[in-house]
Amino acid sequence: MKTAIIYATSHGCTDKCARNLAIELESGIDLYNIETEQNFDLNNFKTIIIGGSIHMGSINKKIKKFISNNIDELCKKNMGLFICCMYEGKKAIEQFNDAFPEDLRNKALAHGFFGGEFNFEKMNFFEKAIVKKVANVEQSVSNINFTEIKEFAKKFEK
Ligand SMILES: Cc1cc2nc3c(=O)[nH]c(=O)nc-3n(C[C@H](O)[C@H](O)[C@H](O)COP(=O)(O)O)c2cc1C
Repeated sequence: MKTAIIYATSHGCTDKCARNLAIELESGIDLYNIETEQNFDLNNFKTIIIGGSIHMGSINKKIKKFISNNIDELCKKNMGLFICCMYEGKKAIEQFNDAFPEDLRNKALAHGFFGGEFNFEKMNFFEKAIVKKVANVEQSVSNINFTEIKEFAKKFEK
């Protein structure tokens, strides 16, 4: 049976990471951006990987809703969970723990911290202002951890 990667992205970083992960996982991977595609049947998948980015401390609301609507079903699957964010270490772990319910975290074969990007070309006025003020960053920067994506994928090898 197949694997689904279900994700949400604001500026494309999580999309990039999900596609990279799909390549690392090699075959039979379906990608669903939950913003545009919600018409899939979880019964078709043995493995489900869920990912999203952190904005203002929280994961995308549609990801949260999808998880709470399907928690029982998801707990029966091979699970993987990942976030994209710019904080690292303890703060990233706190954000991860807040993004995903404990049951799912305990069930997951892999917890992924894939790093993140600040993409000024895709930010609106307010987002730019927040990033400049909070992160003290004025230019686009990419900090995706491709090694971590590779390591995450290895946990799903048969
Ligand atoms: C307005 C804004 C708020 C953000 N807030 C956080 C945050 O609270 N914690 C964090 O670790 N990263 C934060 N980030 C960084 C994002 O997680 C990072 O840009 C990520 O790569 C976005 O992925 P996406 O393009 O898939 O949405 C923020 C970025 C923006 C633009």
